[in-house]
Amino acid sequence: MNYRVISLKYRPQDFDELTGQNHVVLSLKGAIKSGRMGHAFLFAGPRGVGKTTTARILAKSLNCIEGPTVHPCQKCQSCREIALSRSIDVIEIDGASNRGIDEIRNLREAIQYSPLHSKHKIYIIDEVHMLTTEAFNALLKTLEEPPPSVIFIFATTNPVKVPQTILSRCERFIFKRLSVREICVRLRSIAEKEKIEVADRALHYIALRADGSVRDGESILEQLVSFVEGKITEDDVFKLIGFLGSEFYVELIRNIIDKKYADVLRMLNRGIEDGANPLEIYRGMVDYMRAALLVYSNLPAELIDLSDDEIAKIKSMTLGREKTMSMLEVLLNSEDLIKRSMNARVAIELLLCQLIRSTEAKLPQTNNTPTADTKQEILNTLQTHSPKLAALLHHSSMKIDGKKIVINAENDFAQKQLLQSKELLERVFKEVLRHECRLAVGVVDSVKQENNIEDTIRALFDGEEVR
Ligand SMILES: Nc1ncnc2c1ncn2[C@@H]1O[C@H](COP(=O)(O)OP(=O)(O)OP(=O)(O)O)[C@@H](O)[C@H]1O
Ligand SMILES: [Mg+2]
Ligand SMILES: [Zn+2]
Repeated sequence: MNYRVISLKYRPQDFDELTGQNHVVLSLKGAIKSGRMGHAFLFAGPRGVGKTTTARILAKSLNCIEGPTVHPCQKCQSCREIALSRSIDVIEIDGASNRGIDEIRNLREAIQYSPLHSKHKIYIIDEVHMLTTEAFNALLKTLEEPPPSVIFIFATTNPVKVPQTILSRCERFIFKRLSVREICVRLRSIAEKEKIEVADRALHYIALRADGSVRDGESILEQLVSFVEGKITEDDVFKLIGFLGSEFYVELIRNIIDKKYADVLRMLNRGIEDGANPLEIYRGMVDYMRAALLVYSNLPAELIDLSDDEIAKIKSMTLGREKTMSMLEVLLNSEDLIKRSMNARVAIELLLCQLIRSTEAKLPQTNNTPTADTKQEILNTLQTHSPKLAALLHHSSMKIDGKKIVINAENDFAQKQLLQSKELLERVFKEVLRHECRLAVGVVDSVKQENNIEDTIRALFDGEEVR
């Protein structure tokens, strides 16, 4: 049997086979149909999302014997040669290994000769941002007055490094990272064609790890096929990529919030012993916290790359947006440390401890009115248990002094209602503030004059000892 790696075997040959780049496909098709083709294109986007593939399809469309056409025939000499990267008139240059002025000079000379077999001479320059400044300058001259039959297609993962003078002479197309869902669909269809048995959850984790790149997804699938016998499961995926499932992250984050230093460190080290590397765990944390931020910002589920199950788990952590943001901030600030550290294990241990500390620092100060965010979080949580109580609390003011919470209700009625649900309220406060709470409820009038919160508390707790 003739073995070919999946990513090459399944390289799309026609615009309609591309996944997820509809905006690019639509405008390229439009240009081809209208016959208004520029002579220079720039395809920008992350790795493995279809830039080179699209460049070849475009080359086929233009040089096909039936071309220009949005459906190259795939049969004529030009179509077949381009598919095999053998066309003399479609020249692929790797910008990373041909960076210098000499290469571009050679190119400028070669450009003068007309195409041999086709309508256009098409230059596909990959990783064009790697060219040297001199090479860019030489290229610019060519771009200003290209011979009519020449077309340039530049591809880059780093458009910021391409000089503005070049950019402004190209039609630009931005390729996007693919969503987990899009990658799953693509991998599923390949698995069906290859008769690969793979569980949905396994595909989900492959796609998650692919991080937007179809090629990466395909190559993980391929590696799994070679070492798994029978159906590929989620555990096989974890084993291969040292990836820890959502259970791990949810529990780890819970332990962080609960300030369980020992449990956090124990979990981390267990994860590393299970084969995950520290950078892996770091990435997983960032992914989870980002997802949490999206969840707490009420984004619709389709926009969050997680299963409904996982979204429910994140909601149940009642982290809230503020805390999530500050944890993400701590995480991102340590990116360099984790990536460059000679001892990544210690670096991530330190980072997780810092995360615990960051959740502490965000607790409301003692002897203080809670921040607007804390109050909002309390209200949100209470809302899910009792909208009526939430409304009453909304109209009350509150003070937090360590474990003691004083609520100044608007009137006697409100005070009575709140007091009746003291237990529930204490539970909600505990959930949000993450420590035991003792509650006292007064009425605004009786405590309003009391500037000294200590006295107020003493008055309200009626001499009771509050631990
Ligand atoms: N949008 C896509 N739809 C379907 N398959 C894709 C897509 N993007 C990438 N692939 C798969 O990944 C392989 C590599 O894609 P391609 O070479 O076009 O990526 P690229 O964007 O040029 O990446 P790089 O920046 O690393 O060169 C293809 O052969 C194909 O199997
Ligand atoms: Mg490429
Ligand atoms: Zn053809």
